[in-house]
Amino acid sequence: MVTDYAILWVCFICRFIPSFLKNVIFVAYLQQQRQFKRADISPFVYVTDRMAVPPAYSDLGKAAKDVFSKGYGFGIVKLDLKTKSQNGVEFNTSGSTNTDTGKAGGSLETKYKMKDLGLSLNQKWNTDNKLTTEVSVEDQLIQGLKLALDTSFVPNTAKKSGKLKTGYKRDFVNVSCDIDFEGPVVHSAAVLGYEGWLLGFQMAFDTAKSKLVQNNFALGYKAGDFQLHTNVNDGADFGGSVYQKVSDQLETAVTLAWTSGSNNTRFGVAAKYQLDKDASVSAKVNNASLIGVGYTQCLRPGVKLTLSALIDGKNFSTGGHKVGLGFELEA
Ligand SMILES: *[C@@H]1O[C@H](CO)[C@@H](O)[C@H](O)[C@H]1NC(C)=O
Ligand SMILES: *[C@@H]1O[C@H](CO)[C@@H](O)[C@H](O)[C@H]1NC(C)=O
Ligand SMILES: *[C@@H]1O[C@H](CO)[C@@H](O)[C@H](O)[C@H]1NC(C)=O
Ligand SMILES: *[C@@H]1O[C@H](CO)[C@@H](O)[C@H](O)[C@H]1NC(C)=O
Ligand SMILES: *[C@@H]1O[C@H](CO)[C@@H](O)[C@H](O)[C@H]1NC(C)=O
Repeated sequence: MVTDYAILWVCFICRFIPSFLKNVIFVAYLQQQRQFKRADISPFVYVTDRMAVPPAYSDLGKAAKDVFSKGYGFGIVKLDLKTKSQNGVEFNTSGSTNTDTGKAGGSLETKYKMKDLGLSLNQKWNTDNKLTTEVSVEDQLIQGLKLALDTSFVPNTAKKSGKLKTGYKRDFVNVSCDIDFEGPVVHSAAVLGYEGWLLGFQMAFDTAKSKLVQNNFALGYKAGDFQLHTNVNDGADFGGSVYQKVSDQLETAVTLAWTSGSNNTRFGVAAKYQLDKDASVSAKVNNASLIGVGYTQCLRPGVKLTLSALIDGKNFSTGGHKVGLGFELEA
């Protein structure tokens, strides 16, 4: 069933691949051979100037997602601290308390980059005692290639996990393939971009069960201040979002999602308005009448305060509302 869908999709997509794309692939090939510069090729074949690396699959539709998620933190009081030592080590410390459950948590993240080797080392520890380390090398063997080894360890339970991640990006393409040693499960994703159009595919394959466990497609369009994103997950969950930067101050987003075979449609509308260079307000509402409002103020360079509230519109008088407070320091 799943493979039938995949074949149908490939046929569908091939119909729309225009002939100039063949030129594009040819140009990319010649450049990869490092024999020619773009300027050498351009008199002979059509070379577009709007060559750009498309985003990763997980970042498709991110502009709309950000309007919905940034500037809010319901039911959480949070403190973030970002610092950088003189020898270039970055530290992110974060602590938060859930106002409903009273549960407190925290994390410490450090990042160290060795520029000339293209090597970076990330370590993360959180109060659930999970230690994660990622070593990555970028742009070394081949320009655009990234290799990373991601391991995590929970000392209490001696639970270990690991992932080998590979990614390759260049004009028009961004692909990745990760192997999660647990399973092992292979996750791959590819995004092709051309003249504002974005086409993405993501899948996960469980080698132990010899089964495709995830099979997602996305199609999007991006033009200046406007972004459209649609996706189908596992042939059953449909989603779409529209992002528009209406003016320098105002950003808006709409999302829509439904599951085939059910009447469960979900939708939401969100907007962010920049009041001045230091302050912004945001608001969102969804089909369940949950209303979120947020206010972000930069108190001084490197000090940011976020206040947010979630109001249950169906149950205005009885409560169940949530508030949040975030404080971000960057030195
Ligand atoms: C390409 O994908 C990688 C992850 O695979 C991501 O980190 C990177 O930002 C993407 N490139 C662009 C230009 O977004
Ligand atoms: C700290 O957080 C910022 C943004 O939230 C991120 O860009 C940066 O990579 C993080 N640094 C570390 C060391 O995790
Ligand atoms: C969808 O709604 C219609 C009418 O409201 C109902 O007859 C049908 O059973 C519902 N379908 C599902 C899967 O809930
Ligand atoms: C609205 O959202 C809720 C959950 O967010 C969902 O269960 C419900 O089916 C949605 N649709 C409608 C039409 O209320
Ligand atoms: C309204 O809130 C009260 C108290 O939190 C709860 O018992 C009730 O079920 C809620 N009603 C609706 C329609 O959500």
